[in-house]
Amino acid sequence: MAVIFPRWTNLIPLGLAVAGPVVLGTVVFAVWYWNSPSFLEVGYSPAQPVPFSHKLHAGDLGLDCRYCHNTVERGAAAAVPPTATCMNCHTKVQTESPKLAKIRESWETGKAVEWVRVHMLPDYAFFNHSVHVAAGIGCSSCHGRVDQMAVVSQVEPLSMSWCLDCHRNPAPHVRPANVAVTDMAWEVGSGTAAKARGDGRDLVPPEHCSGCHR
Ligand code: HEC
Ligand code: HEC
Ligand code: HEC
Ligand code: HEC
Ligand code: HEC
Repeated sequence: MAVIFPRWTNLIPLGLAVAGPVVLGTVVFAVWYWNSPSFLEVGYSPAQPVPFSHKLHAGDLGLDCRYCHNTVERGAAAAVPPTATCMNCHTKVQTESPKLAKIRESWETGKAVEWVRVHMLPDYAFFNHSVHVAAGIGCSSCHGRVDQMAVVSQVEPLSMSWCLDCHRNPAPHVRPANVAVTDMAWEVGSGTAAKARGDGRDLVPPEHCSGCHR
């Protein structure tokens, strides 16, 4: 009888048995490793190039968030302030402080300070600050008590289910028109009307996929 399979083919099952788990393991590791970026984790709190404290500036000094994050009501992103905003005060206050050396250097050279991002969604998820702020959703609903943080830390998972939990029932987060979105002391849960603040129309947070994946 003719030999259909040469002798070496007997080794194929063994080869597969050994290679299979190795390949599978590599794939699982790669997916786990590259798809679990640390910046999506609750508690992520990277060191910053300058020890800027929200507790001091927003808490103790009482600066409004919008003094520095001044695009939050108009744009998709909440801009981190340029050095010029810091220098409004720090040309007069703490002018010799070593903690502000990098700010003075940035002011002299014109090179922006390289702040480290804390919150970051993947590119395929669409988010817009101004829509939320206009609807009366305050900073603290998503970022926690930033005014008590010496170093900013992520307090919410920013996961799809977290977005959807609020989109299905935003009412507890919607502030009345007389409470600023930057008021940190307002208690989440005391919201009542699920109406937009300005024009009185009903709020319609998207639950369909293309609302957030455009
Ligand atoms: C004096 C200017 C200033 C004020 C006032 C201020 N911030 Fe900031 N904020 C910064 C700077 C600078 C950074 C970047 C460095 C850092 O993360 O600490 C930042 C970072 C942040 C971040 C993290 C951004 C990221 O990378 O994900 C959040 C959230 C934030 N601020 C929210 C607030 C809120 C809420 C308030 C009001 C309670 C506020 N800020 C008031 C200057 C300010
Ligand atoms: C409205 C005024 C004002 C603005 C704007 C401001 N600061 Fe300050 N900053 C202060 C005051 C006041 C202090 C505390 C001074 C003290 O404790 O003697 C301070 C303290 C600091 C300190 C601590 C200095 C030390 O040696 O203890 C750092 C760091 C700092 N600010 C960074 C920043 C950065 C970065 C920005 C811009 C994103 C900024 N500040 C914007 C008023 C301001
Ligand atoms: C509905 C939730 C929500 C509210 C309300 C909210 N943020 Fe954010 N914020 C986010 C998310 C999500 C990101 C990450 C966005 C991204 O990666 O595209 C973010 C990012 C930021 C950043 C980093 C820069 C950027 O835009 O990516 C700053 C600064 C910030 N927020 C400040 C604020 C301030 C100040 C307020 C209140 C006036 C506020 N946020 C209200 C969810 C929110
Ligand atoms: C605390 C409540 C809350 C959280 C958390 C929240 N949203 Fe929303 N979102 C709303 C409300 C309320 C509206 C409706 C605004 C309106 O109808 O004017 C909205 C509207 C939107 C819209 C529609 C904006 C437009 O331009 O059509 C998008 C997109 C969106 N949210 C994305 C997100 C994403 C992505 C997250 C999570 C990273 C998120 N939201 C987290 C309350 C929330
Ligand atoms: C309210 C906003 C919102 C809506 C609506 C939404 N998503 Fe998402 N989705 C997100 C955000 C934000 C992420 C990123 C979450 C993360 O990285 O942890 C995400 C992540 C994903 C991912 C990647 C999951 C992963 O584990 O990496 C898939 C797939 C996805 N969404 C599919 C859908 C489908 C299908 C729908 C409709 C049934 C939908 N999404 C509706 C906000 C939304």
